[in-house]
Amino acid sequence: MNTILKKTQLSDDVFLMRVAAPLIAEERKPGQFVIVQIDSNFGERIPLTIADADPQEGSITLIFQAVGKTTLRLAALKEGDRIENLLGPLGRPTHIEKLGTVVCVGGGIGVAPLHPIAQGFKQAGNKVIIIMGARNQKLLILEQEMRAIADELIICTDDGSYGRKGLVTEPLKELCQQEPKPDFVVAIGPPIMMKFCAETTRPFAVPTFVSLNTIMVDGTGMCGGCRVTVGAETKFVCVDGPEFDGHKVDFDNMMKRLRSYKTLEDQARHACKLEQEIAQKQSETQP
Ligand code: FAD
Ligand code: FES
Ligand code: MG
Repeated sequence: MNTILKKTQLSDDVFLMRVAAPLIAEERKPGQFVIVQIDSNFGERIPLTIADADPQEGSITLIFQAVGKTTLRLAALKEGDRIENLLGPLGRPTHIEKLGTVVCVGGGIGVAPLHPIAQGFKQAGNKVIIIMGARNQKLLILEQEMRAIADELIICTDDGSYGRKGLVTEPLKELCQQEPKPDFVVAIGPPIMMKFCAETTRPFAVPTFVSLNTIMVDGTGMCGGCRVTVGAETKFVCVDGPEFDGHKVDFDNMMKRLRSYKTLEDQARHACKLEQEIAQKQSETQP
């Protein structure tokens, strides 16, 4: 169980892994995630979205960016290696129905969780407009997969190296200014991007859902790590989400909580990179 069947590098630090997990593949729905624990001795638990699943092969696809200790360790695993624990599918699935025109906005690694959602809205008979953004062309992922789904695909890069130069909020605002306006927007990416997508659609009263990426530990509603304020209520992203009405989310508080362990995370990342470099050098010098 949980054997890595296929590993592909999508960009400098983004990896795709197809992992054997037949029960999860059977059950999962767009919008859901798994909690991954590489090893149960000292491995921390991290949430990753189920980007795709193949019930016939009995596999799920994870797409992740190596940003810190655990994702760097995950990226170092090879085909044939096993992930010790995989818990899921967790979270509420995306509510998908025929709404008319749905705009799907993905920033950076957020394009990975957006993919099954865009696919679901297309299959439900919606016109799907996809806006993808990245800092530069090299960091764009899943362009061909998104192009295959989209009725219209708009690509933005911060430096103008591909597609439009600028932020995803610019084409989003233009679409909201048109008549008819989009019926629904779903935005997934860095918290700051989701916040400004919600602020862009708010004056046009276009319903906008976001998928929150808070810190998670158990993923089952018990630790409180993923607590967010939505409207006047406290919610747990792992069991009440991960999707919420973007117009009601307190993004500033969420971003503050996400930075809580920054010093420890930086130290762990540096130590992990050093360990991996030493291991690499040792393997090169061994006869
Ligand atoms: P660290 O250096 O420990 O942390 C880097 C940053 O990641 C932190 O500053 C914090 O913002 C966040 N983070 C740290 N620990 C956790 C944690 N236990 N849970 C959540 N966030 C954490 N990333 C992907 O690349 N692909 C995905 O498909 C994806 N799906 C996600 C789905 C959900 C529901 C959530 C909540 C997050 C998702 N993430 C995804 C983010 C991913 O979980 C973090 O990048 C990962 O936990 C970082 O761990 P690390 O040890 O490598 O980095
Ligand atoms: Fe523990 Fe949500 S991750 S309550
Ligand atoms: Mg970590």
